[in-house]
Amino acid sequence: MKRSLVIALLILLPSISYANRLTNEPIKIIEPATGLNTSMVALGKKLWFDPRLSKSNAISCNSCHNLATAGVDNLPSSIGHEWTIGPINSPTVLNAELNISQFWNGRAKDLKAQASGPIDNPKEMAFTHSLAVETLNSIPAYQKHFTKVFNTNNITIDEVATAIAEFEKTLRTPNAPFDLWLKGNDNALTPTEKAGYALFKEKGCTACHNGALVGGQMYQKMGLVKPYKTNNADIGRAAITGKDSDKFVFKVPTLRNVALTYPYFHDGAVWSLKEAVIIMADIQLGQKISKDEANKITAFLSSLTGTQPQVVLPLLPPSTMKTPKPKMH
Ligand code: HEC
Ligand code: HEC
Repeated sequence: MKRSLVIALLILLPSISYANRLTNEPIKIIEPATGLNTSMVALGKKLWFDPRLSKSNAISCNSCHNLATAGVDNLPSSIGHEWTIGPINSPTVLNAELNISQFWNGRAKDLKAQASGPIDNPKEMAFTHSLAVETLNSIPAYQKHFTKVFNTNNITIDEVATAIAEFEKTLRTPNAPFDLWLKGNDNALTPTEKAGYALFKEKGCTACHNGALVGGQMYQKMGLVKPYKTNNADIGRAAITGKDSDKFVFKVPTLRNVALTYPYFHDGAVWSLKEAVIIMADIQLGQKISKDEANKITAFLSSLTGTQPQVVLPLLPPSTMKTPKPKMH
């Protein structure tokens, strides 16, 4: 009797501690997206890749959020219409649905509220919503697809945004080594990565970088303990709230796939992840960390790279003679 009890305990205990990782750790796993409208996703994917939503017909959402490079452009600041250099670094769209809000300063409440913005932003796609809709209406295959998804004959910018957002919801990156470890696979992380995670918690990084996104859940001042020196003019959430106390307050960015989304910070000024880690410890926590600690934390952060979405390029329906022509200026 006793012996079988001991055996039962030996079998049960490890699985209890695994289950505990899922609930007790401050970082949660990324689940794959479910319950999406397949036909709307397919439409949103076309729109995502369609440069005809821009004035020049040369820029699509994918130009600055390249899905071949973790949903970013790997530039300090994005390049938009007429080679305009944007004011801020382009955040990744991977897992973006899970953010509390969209944009560095959180000015859009969700993906749908965000999605129509770039189309008529003069520094990005520089089009107008009515010309974007006219363009789509001039292409019979688009008309058909919108009718199928939205049950109307009249394409609206609201539907465009809804469809793009539905596609973006598919862009999750599950099964990072760190997630496999959370689920109980002890060998999914190297000893260095495990040591890095322990330091990440000990130093206090998880106060701001936690949850499934390892960020994305709150707004915090960039330079909480010491000011951050930058040439970037963005004042953060103060631009929305008008409050002086919100100066340089930004949405804490996700650290999912962070090894791929260089350069770092809203000004894109830091190219090395290790350097970003050292700066964070210094200006957010007032701590000098050693090179060895920084190496370990960086190794842990690399274990947050998940399975990247496997996107098959959609075939875009051809323009017609009614489609507005591209304008370079
Ligand atoms: C010219 C480059 C450019 C283009 C084109 C562009 N974006 Fe962005 N995107 C950015 C930049 C830069 C930001 C950050 C702006 C800010 O926070 O003020 C951003 C922010 C976002 C965010 C917020 C992510 C987050 O974590 O807060 C989403 C989502 C997004 N873009 C989706 C899109 C979609 C959808 C399109 C196409 C309709 C698009 N973008 C086109 C550069 C671009
Ligand atoms: C007080 C909240 C807070 C703490 C604590 C904190 N961070 Fe951050 N972290 C932020 C904010 C806010 C940003 C975005 C700042 C910006 O770009 O203006 C950020 C950005 C980052 C980035 C760059 C991400 C990117 O995509 O540009 C990394 C890497 C990072 N943090 C790692 C860490 C590490 C490692 C620690 C612990 C040593 C840490 N952070 C502690 C709030 C915090």
